[in-house]
Amino acid sequence: MAKTGTDLQLAKSLLEKGELVGIPTETVYGLAANALNGSAVARIFAVKNRPEFDPLIVHVPDLDAAHRYVERMPHQAHRLATYFWPGPLTLVLPKKSIIPDIVTSGMETVGLRCPDHILSRRLLQELDFPLAAPSANPFGYVSPTRPEHVAEQLGDNIPYILDGGECQIGIESTIVGFEGAETVIYRLGGLSLEKIESIIGRVRIQSHSSSRPKSPGQLTSHYAPSKRVILGDIKELLQKYPSHCTGILSFSDDYNSPHQIVLSKDKNLEEAAKNLFTALRTFDKMDVDVIVAEEVPDTGLGRAINDRLRRAAAQNQE
Ligand code: TXA
Ligand code: MG
Repeated sequence: MAKTGTDLQLAKSLLEKGELVGIPTETVYGLAANALNGSAVARIFAVKNRPEFDPLIVHVPDLDAAHRYVERMPHQAHRLATYFWPGPLTLVLPKKSIIPDIVTSGMETVGLRCPDHILSRRLLQELDFPLAAPSANPFGYVSPTRPEHVAEQLGDNIPYILDGGECQIGIESTIVGFEGAETVIYRLGGLSLEKIESIIGRVRIQSHSSSRPKSPGQLTSHYAPSKRVILGDIKELLQKYPSHCTGILSFSDDYNSPHQIVLSKDKNLEEAAKNLFTALRTFDKMDVDVIVAEEVPDTGLGRAINDRLRRAAAQNQE
């Protein structure tokens, strides 16, 4: 069983030996390995049961380090990194050959991110290699936002989890790529569309599902708890599903049920994002058969919340 603690030196020495470590970030916990060591990276795919077509994000301490791993950085990418790193933004850029093909699933591009968490930044600053780290959950399940989420699901297969407390943003990074002159969002996430557009102007969102996604975060059914999630008007859904065995996930309304979780009483989208994944995990342990949920306002982080809710509900809507 993994140990959990704040021992940076232990985390460092394990990573140097090619082992995996659970690391905190401001978005979600990551399952980290030396990104330049192909066999360490292969362990990530095995432990997560992740298909090999799903590339990993590489974490760096700062923008200077990022330049070591990419062939070029378009002007727009540079601007975004300058404004939003460290932070919940992943940039998809043409990779240098030093990044092993297994990291990028054979693609010519690599997703790079500088996380905004004191422990992980210190760790990255002390290491002489970057860290490949997907979210630290079994493939397809909800991302972990607390160290105990990682321990419960992957604890048997990794030696150490760096405890950075609860993730402050709680939803994965926004993934941005550059196609010709266009900037494209592949996954909505913890950095809002509005903030990105305030720096570089109009961008295209391409985070809908497809059978050959550029980013498997685009798979329709993903980020899903094991209970059925049904998305719609909660009041109407409650006519259909008996309240004693139905979990209620509301944005701000109180339904006076022992099986309800309110994401934000104050209708605050940042608070709702932070609470979302813990809520889905809590329902999985609750004595309910289904979860009825509603969308939140589709602005700011609300877009990313709605994207995750739709994906969690996807297998039940066809
Ligand atoms: O917030 C986050 O991004 C977290 C923390 C740990 O940094 N990481 C995360 O990783 O969510 P993961 O592996 O669960 O999701 C990464 C997504 C995948 O859907 C993957 O397909 C996409 O990033 N991705 C990685 N490299 C890519 C590339 N070169 N082109 C397009 N998408 C890429
Ligand atoms: Mg993930």
